[in-house]
Amino acid sequence: VRRILSGIQPTGVPHLGNFLGALRQWVQLQDQPAQTVVYSIVDLHALTAHPPVPPATLRDSIHNSARVLLALGINPKKSILFQQSQVPAHTQLQWVLTCVTSVGWLNRMTQWKTKAGSSPADAAPPAALKMGLFAYPVLQAADILIYRATHVPVGEDQHQHLELARDIAKVFNTTYKTNLFPMPQAVSTSAKRIMSLTDPTAKMSKSHANPKSRIDLTDSDSTIAKKVRGAVTDSDPTVTWDPDTRPGVANLLSLYAACRDLDPASLPEGELKGVVGMVNLKKKVAECVVDTVRPVRDEYLRLGGEVGYVKAVLEEGNARARAEADATWEMVMKAVGMK
Ligand code: TYM
Repeated sequence: VRRILSGIQPTGVPHLGNFLGALRQWVQLQDQPAQTVVYSIVDLHALTAHPPVPPATLRDSIHNSARVLLALGINPKKSILFQQSQVPAHTQLQWVLTCVTSVGWLNRMTQWKTKAGSSPADAAPPAALKMGLFAYPVLQAADILIYRATHVPVGEDQHQHLELARDIAKVFNTTYKTNLFPMPQAVSTSAKRIMSLTDPTAKMSKSHANPKSRIDLTDSDSTIAKKVRGAVTDSDPTVTWDPDTRPGVANLLSLYAACRDLDPASLPEGELKGVVGMVNLKKKVAECVVDTVRPVRDEYLRLGGEVGYVKAVLEEGNARARAEADATWEMVMKAVGMK
């Protein structure tokens, strides 16, 4: 049987990159028979943010992330939707996994190297960097392995973390002569990487300071139109698919293609044939993004009046996740010799 697990950080609300790269798949994957589906709001991972998120903001973001996930179609009858920190077995397993994970593996993680800043690849990272940021991928591996997940729907930026999760699963199995953990594999959409609207060489990200760089799934129609109008392109008025030389235009085409389920390379000679000028291209892109976001946002707004319901969904999800995770933790304790 398939066991599906994925997670999203509650830093702000989910954006269009999260949706097109991962969350859309979360919804589709729920509908297959005979499987366990577990989706986590990973608040422990959000503690690695720098500077730290104020407590009231974190509390709101957890609730609002749950609201968005329900609004876009996560169905608590088909999936377990829960808050990571409320299931202690994640951090219990993380400790066991840190004891079989080499520092060298973590040093190679792109996310760590990027956040470790401008120091050359072979220089020591600044001593003030936090342990939590370094160990982040081990907690992510624990999230996956504590449900013995086989499939993990994520965007491309998470593939390296998933490879590490497989390496950790392998070294655990070898060390303790067990086959407890299956090798989890990534499940991807065609929109692997949606880029920032203000810098098309960087991925669209919740943590980016400029809100104009991303489209939140809670943005109004007029905000979406304004953000797309302001997207960075270039001075060539023609519409062509050249991701290397025209990253801004390519990102707009990727957005259009992902929203309409088309191949972006086909658009200049296909659906967007005859469109000339960035103003006109952006109008087309804004229309299809608005069509994609509107139903999610409207349901999100409706759920604003259902605070008790959203809380109850998470409470029930937490209890169900605890039962699943505790069962694995028992097996881990036996495999290791703690029981
Ligand atoms: P997070 O919260 O950054 O993003 C959630 C999901 O959205 C995808 N994504 C994107 N896809 C395409 N284009 C983008 N610009 C874009 N930005 C984000 C991410 O790939 C992800 O699938 N470390 C994870 C959270 C995590 C996790 C896990 C995921 C913790 N434990 C266990 C899977 C399994 C993260 O920070 O995702």
